Amino acid sequence: MAVAAGYMPGAETLKATAHTDGGGRYPVMERYGYVWGWFGNPRAADPAHLPSLPFLPPNGGLPDYMTGTVRFDCSAPISLENLIDLTHADFLHANVVGDEKSDSETVEVFSTSETVTMVRTCLGKSVAPVMKFFSGIRQPTQTVRQVIHIYLRSHAAIAYGRFTPGDDVPLFHPCVPETRDRTRLDYSMNTSNAGFMFRHVMPKASYLVSRQDSSMTAPQSPRYMHLSKRRDLHSKFDAAGQRYRLLMQDLAARQQAGDFAYRDNVSEDCSELIGLRKELFRF
Ligand SMILES: [Fe+2]
Repeated sequence: MAVAAGYMPGAETLKATAHTDGGGRYPVMERYGYVWGWFGNPRAADPAHLPSLPFLPPNGGLPDYMTGTVRFDCSAPISLENLIDLTHADFLHANVVGDEKSDSETVEVFSTSETVTMVRTCLGKSVAPVMKFFSGIRQPTQTVRQVIHIYLRSHAAIAYGRFTPGDDVPLFHPCVPETRDRTRLDYSMNTSNAGFMFRHVMPKASYLVSRQDSSMTAPQSPRYMHLSKRRDLHSKFDAAGQRYRLLMQDLAARQQAGDFAYRDNVSEDCSELIGLRKELFRF
């Protein structure tokens, strides 16, 4: 149990809001194989504020090969904003999850005051190379449903891909801010239901994929945390990223005004929202 993630009030306000007891300690809790630290008022610590991660065993215990630690040379928020634009994978990670070619593509964005979710469905999408080689998919295309679900305060995300035919790829992606331009990711990918090769290989693809992401986000990181007076002119196709930026700013503004209350329930089971094939994940 060496990994840790935070369910914290937001890195940018951490300094102003961290509460500890007289000994400099803060409440911690074990769940899903992680140690979660509560940086808010110790009296307000409550399991109700732990994110719902329905594909991870509540008491931990995934084999070591399904977990790992990678680092991004950028701030945690830009790492998450990159993640929630699922279309980036077609270009940046084409050699792992397949290129941009598909017969049709639908993108939906959902949000609460605590979460933002992007759901992307592609029909007739080029088969992911990793599945061609390690799951034995022989046909040229797949139906792919990909979901990113971000828990804003914790800088933690679910990345869940359903490939038909193919395997499920359920990834827990907790970004722990180490410095303004450095993020640690102690990830877990529950590939228990896949065949032997895919089950072992896919979690390790994170080492390759995270380098590809970091090569894009690292150069942007120094500018990212500075608010600009320029208007946000991103296109409507970037709805998920825009929503993420707005919700994070709302949260920071509320906390700056002394309001740390959760307005939406983050521990409510998100299986339906992310389209989890629950029958594959019974604990
Ligand atoms: Fe990526």
